[in-house]
Amino acid sequence: MNTLTATLTKYLLFPYRQPDKAALNRYLQNKTILITGASYGIGEAVAEMLADCQIRLILVARTAEKLQQIQQRLASKSVDCHIFACDLTNEEQCSELLNQLQQLGDIDIFINNAGKSICRPLMDSLDRLHDFQRTIRLNYLAPVQLCLGLIPLLKKTRGQIVNVSALNVLLAPTPYWAAYQASKTAFDQWLRCAEPELKLAKIAVSSIYFPLVNTRMIAPVYADKPVPALSVEQAVEIICRTLLTRKSCIRPWWSLLAQLASVTFHQLWAGCCRYYLKRKSDE
Ligand SMILES: NC(=O)c1ccc[n+]([C@@H]2O[C@H](COP(=O)([O-])OP(=O)(O)OC[C@H]3O[C@@H](n4cnc5c(N)ncnc54)[C@H](OP(=O)(O)O)[C@@H]3O)[C@@H](O)[C@H]2O)c1
Repeated sequence: MNTLTATLTKYLLFPYRQPDKAALNRYLQNKTILITGASYGIGEAVAEMLADCQIRLILVARTAEKLQQIQQRLASKSVDCHIFACDLTNEEQCSELLNQLQQLGDIDIFINNAGKSICRPLMDSLDRLHDFQRTIRLNYLAPVQLCLGLIPLLKKTRGQIVNVSALNVLLAPTPYWAAYQASKTAFDQWLRCAEPELKLAKIAVSSIYFPLVNTRMIAPVYADKPVPALSVEQAVEIICRTLLTRKSCIRPWWSLLAQLASVTFHQLWAGCCRYYLKRKSDE
C-alpha cells in the first residue's frame, strides 16, 4: 500500500490514534496474553508487535509448523512465547487446551481472533451444511467455550476479553455471507449479553468492529476487485491501543451512519440486493 492510500484508509476508513508503545510496554509488563488464530494474518501480526514486551504470549492455531516458526522468530525477543496447536472447532481439543492453560497459570488478556469466513450463494450451499457447522463452531461456540473456561482466571487478574469482530455484524445482512455473518453476530451478541456481568466481575470487554483488513481471509473474494481495506499493521495498532484503553466498543465513526441507514433504508437495501442477484443470474 502506498503512503497516500495508507493515510487515506487510516483517516477515512478507520481513524485511530496510534498506541503509545512505551505506555503499552509498561502496562503489559508481566502479563499473559492468549491470542487465538495466531498463525496468520492479524493474530500473527499482533504477536510480532508485542514481541518486545516483557510478557508471556500464548499462541493458538491449527498449523503447528507455522506456530513453531513464529516461536523461533520471537525467541531472541523479550517475550516468553508458548504455542498450542489446536483445532478450535473440536470441542475435546478446546477442552484439552483449557486444561493446559489452567496449568500455565494466570491469564490477563484473551484476544479472540481465530475466525473463518465463507462467501457462498445459498443455492450453492444446499448440500453444504458443514459450512454452517464449521463457522458456527469456530466463530461462535469455540470462543464461548474458551470464555467459560477462562472467566475464573480473568476474574483473578481483572483481565480483558478482546473480540476481533467484523463491522458487518452491525449492518444490514448481505447475500452470500450467511454462514460468516450469522456466526460472527452470534458471538458478538453473546459477549454483549455477558458484558455487564463480566464488568461486575472486573473483566473488561472490548469488541472491535473491523471493516475489511488485507489478509488471506479476503483474498478469495476480493483478489481481482481492489476494495478499501485496512492494512494488517493498522488493524494491529487498533488492537494494541485497545489493550491500553480497555474501551468497550471500537468502530469507525461512519459505522453509526451506516447502521442508521441499515435500519432506515432496509427495504431499499433488500431491493438493491435482489436487483444485484437478478443481474448476476441473467449474466
Ligand atoms: N480480514 C478481514 O477483512 C476481517 C475483517 C473483520 C474481522 N476479521 C476477523 O479477524 C480475525 C482474524 O482474521 P484474519 O483476517 O487475520 O484471517 P486469517 O489470516 O485467515 O487468520 C485466521 C486465523 O484463524 C486460525 N484458525 C482458522 N481456523 C481455525 C481452527 N479451526 N482452529 C484454530 N485456529 C483456526 C488460522 O490458523 P490455522 O489455519 O493455522 O488454524 C489463522 O491463524 C477473524 O476473526 C476475522 O473474522 C477479519
